Amino acid sequence: MGEELTADTMFGYLERLPEQFTESLGLDLRWAEEMPRRYNCIVVAGQGGSAIGGDVLRTYCQSRLPVPVLVNRDYRLPACVGPDSLVLAVSYSGNTEETLSAYVDALCRQAHLVAVTTGGKLAEWAAHDGVPVIEVPPGFMPRAAAGYLFAPAALLLERLRLLAGVSEEIQETARVLQERRATLLPAVPAERNEARQLAARLAGALPIIWGAAGSTEVAALRWKGQINENAKSPAYYNVFPELDHNEIVGFEAPEDLVRRLALVILRDRDDHERVVKRMAITADVVGRRAASISEVHSSGEGLLARLFSLMYVGDYTSTYLALEYGINPTPVQAIDELKARMAQ
Ligand code: F6R
Repeated sequence: MGEELTADTMFGYLERLPEQFTESLGLDLRWAEEMPRRYNCIVVAGQGGSAIGGDVLRTYCQSRLPVPVLVNRDYRLPACVGPDSLVLAVSYSGNTEETLSAYVDALCRQAHLVAVTTGGKLAEWAAHDGVPVIEVPPGFMPRAAAGYLFAPAALLLERLRLLAGVSEEIQETARVLQERRATLLPAVPAERNEARQLAARLAGALPIIWGAAGSTEVAALRWKGQINENAKSPAYYNVFPELDHNEIVGFEAPEDLVRRLALVILRDRDDHERVVKRMAITADVVGRRAASISEVHSSGEGLLARLFSLMYVGDYTSTYLALEYGINPTPVQAIDELKARMAQ
C-alpha cells in the first residue's frame, strides 16, 4: 500500500462503507446461473475482517434458509462438507493460510467453490482450478471492506434463488449507513456524535460488548474485533441470554478490575421480549459495579441495515477510541508480525 497509514486513512475507509454496498449491486453474477440451486450446507471460510460478513450472512439466513450457513475459521472444514455443499472462500488479501487451507479442503471434497478476494494466491489458485472469483476492490484494510466482502455472498445466494429481497435490503443498508454516517463523522462535535461519546466512556476502561444470540451477536463480535484492531485495546463480548447464566456472577472480584469494565449493550427492535427484560435486570444488577453502561440502538427496517448500523457505530467508536489513546487506528502490526513469522 503506497500511502502512509494514518487515522485519516481509517476515517476515509469508514466514510466509504455505505457506497461499498451500492457498488456491489453492480456485480455481474450471471455465471452463477450454471450453479446448482440446492446445497446441503453453505460454508463461508475466512478469518478476521474477511469472516465477519459470513457471520452476518449466517444470521440473516437463520430464519430464511432451510439449510445451515456455517462460518469456518479454521484450516479444515466440517465433515458435512462434500459434493453437495457450497463453499465461499473469502480472503481480502488472498493470502491467509487458514482460508487457503480450507479452500484446498473444499476442492478435495469436490464442494462447489467460489472465491471472494482482491488477488493473492487465492485468485491464482482459483484461476488455475476453474473456480469462479468475485473480485473485491483493492486498497482497503480487510476490516474496512466489510461491505465489499459481505454483499457478494448474499447477492450470490439471491442469484441462486436461495434468498429473495437481498438487493433491496442492500440498498436500504446503504441508505441507513449514509444517514448514520452524517452523525458519526469527525466533523460532528461530541455533543451530537454518539461514537465520540462512547469512545470517551470506553477510554481507560476494558470494553465488554453484549448482544443477543442469533441477531446482534455478530455486531458485538465486530465491535470487539474493531476495538482490538483499531484502538489496540483488549475488549470482550458475550450474548444474552447465555451471559445471564455465568458472566453476570463475575462482577465481584477483583473490585479494582470490575470498576474498570465498560459495558455496552447492543439493542435491536427485534430483541426477544424476555431478552429485553433480561437486559434491564442485568444492567441493574451489574451496571452499578462497572465503570459505565451504555446502550446503542440499531436503525433501519431490514435485518441487514439494522446489523450494519450497529456495526458502523462500533467502527467509528473504535477509531475515536484509538485517538483517545493517541494510537494510529489503521496499521495492525501484531497481525503483520504474526503472519510474517508463521511464513518463516
Ligand atoms: C485486518 C483484518 C484482519 C484480516 C485477517 C485475514 O484489517 O481485519 O482481521 O482480515 O488477518 O486476512 P484476509 O482478510 O486478508 O484474509
